[in-house]
Amino acid sequence: MRNDDTLMHVRGTSQFVDDIPVPGCLHAVLFTSPVAKGRIRSLDISKAVTAPGVAAVYTHKDVPGLNQVGHVFKDQPLLAVDAVEYIGQPIALVIADTRRNAKKALALIKADIEKLEPMLDPRAAAAAGQLHGKKRVQVHGDPDAAFAKCKHIFEGRLASGAQEHFYFETQRALAVPGEHDTIKVYASAQSPGAFHHHLAEVLGIPMHKVELDIRRLGGGFGGKESTAVWIVAPAMAAFLLKRPVKLLLERNEDIATTGKRHAYEYDYKLGLDAEGNILAYDITLYQHAGACADISTAVLGRSFLHVCGSYRIPNSRVTGLSCRTNIPPNNAFRGFGVPQGTFAIEAAITRAAGVLGVKPEELKRRNLLRDGDKLPYGVVLSDVNAARCWETLEEKAGIKVRRAAVEAYNKAHTDKKRGLAVVPVCFGISFAQTALNQASSLVHIYMDGSVAVSTGAVEMGQGVNAKLRIVAARTLGVPLERVRVETTNTSRIPNASPTSASTGADLNGMATKYACERLRARLIAFAAGALKAEPAAVEIKDGEVLISGKPAGFGWNKLAKDAQWARVDLGEHAFYATPNLHYDMEKEQGRPFAYYAYGASLTEVLLDAVRGTYTIEAVDIVQDVGESLSPAIDRGQIEGAVIQGMGWATMEQLRYAPDGRVLTGVSAYKVPDIKFLPAHFDVTLLKDSTNPYAVCNSKAVGEPPFVHGIGAYLALADALSAARADRDLPSLPITPEKAFMYLHGGGK
Ligand code: MTE
Ligand code: MOS
Repeated sequence: MRNDDTLMHVRGTSQFVDDIPVPGCLHAVLFTSPVAKGRIRSLDISKAVTAPGVAAVYTHKDVPGLNQVGHVFKDQPLLAVDAVEYIGQPIALVIADTRRNAKKALALIKADIEKLEPMLDPRAAAAAGQLHGKKRVQVHGDPDAAFAKCKHIFEGRLASGAQEHFYFETQRALAVPGEHDTIKVYASAQSPGAFHHHLAEVLGIPMHKVELDIRRLGGGFGGKESTAVWIVAPAMAAFLLKRPVKLLLERNEDIATTGKRHAYEYDYKLGLDAEGNILAYDITLYQHAGACADISTAVLGRSFLHVCGSYRIPNSRVTGLSCRTNIPPNNAFRGFGVPQGTFAIEAAITRAAGVLGVKPEELKRRNLLRDGDKLPYGVVLSDVNAARCWETLEEKAGIKVRRAAVEAYNKAHTDKKRGLAVVPVCFGISFAQTALNQASSLVHIYMDGSVAVSTGAVEMGQGVNAKLRIVAARTLGVPLERVRVETTNTSRIPNASPTSASTGADLNGMATKYACERLRARLIAFAAGALKAEPAAVEIKDGEVLISGKPAGFGWNKLAKDAQWARVDLGEHAFYATPNLHYDMEKEQGRPFAYYAYGASLTEVLLDAVRGTYTIEAVDIVQDVGESLSPAIDRGQIEGAVIQGMGWATMEQLRYAPDGRVLTGVSAYKVPDIKFLPAHFDVTLLKDSTNPYAVCNSKAVGEPPFVHGIGAYLALADALSAARADRDLPSLPITPEKAFMYLHGGGK
């Protein structure tokens, strides 16, 4: 653990939004819809307005600017007008001196809402044409002709569940009004640029009057990327009351009303030839999106581009539907649709192997991507590390030996079964939305030689600040301690893209490198002048100035001081936009990603075939992170992502009541804990991998390893089918209850 904040986190001294002291701060709470679909007949706030401690109660009528926080489409009012579309949708905002008084006043609001029949099933929504955006269809090769030639065809339905982000710091923001109708907002948010824009739009003021400042997040995982409600609401109150206002969601409020990873349903058809080569794949993705589009169409787009997983599929038809239903709008979650897209092909191949009586890993290895393969959207791959990851895994973990051991165990045991799965990962890096692939960096060298770096990257525990420090220190030639990474602030860095799609270090690191290179060149030119030497002979290394490799007699700090006195510009701003990206949504063709992150993993489980309980016994991972900027951070990211993925695949299950209410509060929603860790858990970073498309030849690491979590599902499915072969694959996650029902429920 080498993140900048680690020591402060352990000591409890890191400042999160709620730790910022603000005297006289008011507290905001939301009055939200109790019904999943309805028409608001009337709303009576009169009793709440006069309740003890209440400063104001606001409805849509009070919004000074645009009553709208829709992220991709303008379909999400900040405060409901005359209709409600999900339980938890904000209708009114209560501001009081204490949170307690604000909550008491909530009970005094009377809303007369006519209940309508909610839509809660994604397939039914699709059948009724209730979609966000357009239905997407992509045809590659000639799938119909290819299916006609297949020796084996497997068809079926699959489903994967929702997932709660469970960031430790729930949604929150603090807004402080300033002079001249300005406002400063401190928020736990991943998207500085977009939220800055939402704030200005709702307040009805230009963006230069709004300052959004983000120090760090107690986790984001995608859940703080797109939904602006909890940031804009307190800002509106602070703006109108001219007093500081804070809003924070309690844990159960957060679980009940915020977006999740999208549950998906799938119809698949997979065709193989006699040798087991995949000839054709037809897949329909039904995304359970919720009441507003939020960022769902983008998430679906990424699933859409990853339906082939790590496999060569020459003919395919992909259909994607973002289904509009009456649950809280779902949003980004680590992997951004890639886990869902990959799950379907992994499950389909596993099913095919089961029916054919061959080992799934044999089918997978045979069809694994290699150089020259063409992806459905037209990219011809090069530098494919899929096979290298697989072979490294075979070498260190012994796939074939382990399979033989599992088979021998299962022959000898009836009450217990082992299961195993190999999952290859291929994850496109770049925002699929080309425009977002930009970043800027502002680097200051102060006259004492200390360096401050500002970028649009948001630190949420993933260690982007530590990586930015490494890039700046390396490029300038100074010790790490000389560099500090500033807060993410819209007054220093405008229009920043979200920190997501695992591109935070890639994009902001590259901009920082550019800025530092220019500063270094200026300082070297200045030093060369002072030393009467050729610039080529001058170097800055570990804070020392060298001339022809020998100490020049002064160091970095003096160089900075002298340069400032000689009127050399010690500040630099640089911009980076990933080159050669394009995508045509009409043709569904293009080059959406700069490069791919590869991996391979082996997961082994032990199932109690009587009780349905299980343990994840072993996980071996090989992940391609290029030339790692920080192996310690990258290992941490890989481990965290895999565990989070295994949680999604096994124990995390959200339940909704028939009326659309989220039933699973914090006491009923289980996330992996330390006891869940496999006894054998081994991470290997792929050797000799390089990558010219990201900063310092590194590769993105934040999300790709999440996909390995699917291995827990597949290994459990493997063990379950060893116990009972007459049943189709269960839906993801495989909870112990589901395993029990699989083992003892009625067969086909
Ligand atoms: N790691 C921690 N500790 N906390 C987080 O919230 N978010 C993940 C990943 N790792 C997250 C995390 C997600 S969803 C993404 S997209 C990346 O970090 C974003 O950071 P990066 O682009 O700097 O990798
Ligand atoms: Mo990550 S889901 O792209 O914030």
